[in-house]
Amino acid sequence: MKTSDWIEPYWLPFTANKAFRAAPRIIERADGHYYFTDDGHKLLDAFSGLWCSNLGHNHPKIVEAIQQQAAKIDYSPSFNFGHPKVFDLAHLIADQFPGNLDHVFFVNSGSEAADTALKLAIAYQRIRGEGARTRLIGRARGYHGVGFGGVSVGGMVNNRKYFGSLLPGTDHLSFPYDPDAHGFTHGQPSIDVEPYMRELEAMIFLHDASTIAAVIVEPFAGSGGVYIPPAGYLNRLREITRAHGILLIVDEVITAFGRLGAENASTLYGVEPDIVTLAKGINNGAVPMGAAVVQREIFDTFMEASKDGVEFFHGFTYSGHPLAAAAGIATQDVLKTEGVYDHANAIIPYFEEAVHSLKGEPHVSDIRNIGLACGITIAHREQAGDRATDVFKAAYTNGVYVRNNGDDLAIAPILTFSRSDIDLTVETIRDALKSVS
Ligand SMILES: Cc1ncc(COP(=O)(O)O)c(C=O)c1O
Repeated sequence: MKTSDWIEPYWLPFTANKAFRAAPRIIERADGHYYFTDDGHKLLDAFSGLWCSNLGHNHPKIVEAIQQQAAKIDYSPSFNFGHPKVFDLAHLIADQFPGNLDHVFFVNSGSEAADTALKLAIAYQRIRGEGARTRLIGRARGYHGVGFGGVSVGGMVNNRKYFGSLLPGTDHLSFPYDPDAHGFTHGQPSIDVEPYMRELEAMIFLHDASTIAAVIVEPFAGSGGVYIPPAGYLNRLREITRAHGILLIVDEVITAFGRLGAENASTLYGVEPDIVTLAKGINNGAVPMGAAVVQREIFDTFMEASKDGVEFFHGFTYSGHPLAAAAGIATQDVLKTEGVYDHANAIIPYFEEAVHSLKGEPHVSDIRNIGLACGITIAHREQAGDRATDVFKAAYTNGVYVRNNGDDLAIAPILTFSRSDIDLTVETIRDALKSVS
């Protein structure tokens, strides 16, 4: 069969399909820090798959765990039944979050985690007698996946504008970063958070707290281009939401399990959200899995509200799938026993210096970094993303995989990257920037 005929029936997600058909990129194999394509290309994975393969590819312990689990239980019904690994993993996850964040609801993706968290928030408010609290507040540049809930509170225009009026009763905070004023910031920018908190307070005044169920934010905007709020932002959001009986949902789909050199951003920043959403790094992206980690008080409220019968009318056929749970346990074991966080912390300053050395290269209008994540804004020629897409393609041709979303190029190294992996990534991007018109 001709390659073009072979490709034809598959509609790729979040992809320029016509351009892909003209020049397909087909990954045939992965190993450690590298992908290998069917046309013999060796590609350094400087985007951890899609922010998910934090330990690199085909880690032997994760592969073995999945293989053994597949031979033991391929599938176990998620409603009315459990299997041993799902309880073990729930413990491992809950133990890593602060305070009473100790109940875990498993799903299959970050999008499902976000929609689960939003539904939990609205239902919880109703059960505790605050049924008027249905409004949801997100943030500009926010990404919480592609379900209607996540898109409604998200703040990425292309993900929203095609899909009608979305959920009613949402509002959005502005993002606390102005590239003109704060460009080329290293780490968290030193911006006064209070004007952004006054914005939230104004929103609460406008709608009245009694109508607001939850605020949802990411610790930093990942898919939105790696934009980083100032220090203390999340802590102040916590104080204000708590004072008004509004739940704080922190979307840690990208930030949990090492991206910031810590188990998660909530622990790192000393914030105790009401709900945390997870996916991706939970099991190294090896089998689809997500989760909502919930405060005990929320769980107890659901349990007490119904004498018997189902307490939360929500769940998925594949919630807590045995293969995903087995991969999750192996991933959490590797994170703990192989010094991954220590290595990430040791390499973060080197990464920061390396990426900021791209300042002054052609077309670069901003560079931002946090942990092992970096966003580089590349000025477009005629339309958003045209030049950044060329940089992505040139880097690919020269053996490095990074991702662009519009004008923002994002780098998300595998947590075990060496200095020479970082050098190869940055120098390949430098050459790519010089090569594009
Ligand atoms: C913060 C955040 N939330 C949710 C999602 C959606 O995850 P998924 O693609 O697994 O649905 C993503 C994906 O990048 C994300 O970065």
